[in-house]
Amino acid sequence: MKAGFLQYSPVFCDPEKNLLKLSEMLDKAPDSDLLVLPELCNSGYNFESREQAMAFSENLNDSKFIDFLQGYCQKRNTWIASGINERSGDSLFNSAILVGPAGLVGKYQKIHLFLNEKDIFSPGNAGLPVFDTPKGKIGLLVCFDWIFPEVWRILALKGADVICHCSNLVLPGFAQRSVPVHALLNHVYVITANRIGTEKDLTFTGMSTIADPSGNVICQSPPENEDIAVFDLDFALARNKQITPRNNLFVDRRPELYKDLLTL
Ligand code: ACM
Repeated sequence: MKAGFLQYSPVFCDPEKNLLKLSEMLDKAPDSDLLVLPELCNSGYNFESREQAMAFSENLNDSKFIDFLQGYCQKRNTWIASGINERSGDSLFNSAILVGPAGLVGKYQKIHLFLNEKDIFSPGNAGLPVFDTPKGKIGLLVCFDWIFPEVWRILALKGADVICHCSNLVLPGFAQRSVPVHALLNHVYVITANRIGTEKDLTFTGMSTIADPSGNVICQSPPENEDIAVFDLDFALARNKQITPRNNLFVDRRPELYKDLLTL
């Protein structure tokens, strides 16, 4: 299983230039089974208003961005996880999609909105799906979701081999330090694809990361440069939740004692 990410700067509010840029990056990518792209890749991030974000959103049933990704997946027999500015009726969602050679596989809508996103997007209500593909079981998260351990655990319990974390991170390296720990605690692979560049007052922090189920950092990009990384991942490692001969990460859980999580 070859999987990795693209680290680059999506073009703000210019769909044509944006697809050209992405196309340039994808052309340089080596063969892979799964590529992860940053958050809000079809539109850019730092909108002045909800109206501006709406103007550059796409309905997932009629999306040039998804058609473009599908074309690449067909040509290269691969799957792509990407952030997308999703319009659904009158609502906007900061979503992640999984696309394969046959088109859209499914979506996740960011549950935990960051800063001004709260003025623009609705909090996600599409749950925390895990998609069973010919390449493995794939879960999706978006950026600030990283700080909530519950979502990582739910995706792991649902059988995710790899969690694709589409990001536009701005806090200084916090998520990049945490992602290997989430990988370790849940015994899954994590691929964080973070963007670079600046949009108005926000500078994005790069350092896209792949972590293995033991929490090892397989690779981490520099903070400011474009980067493309693809590595061999062994999903058998993620499926083995045995920590010691007498300890299994899932079997040893005591969910009957965790009920406070639902009420506090
Ligand atoms: C973020 O959630 N884009 C920081």
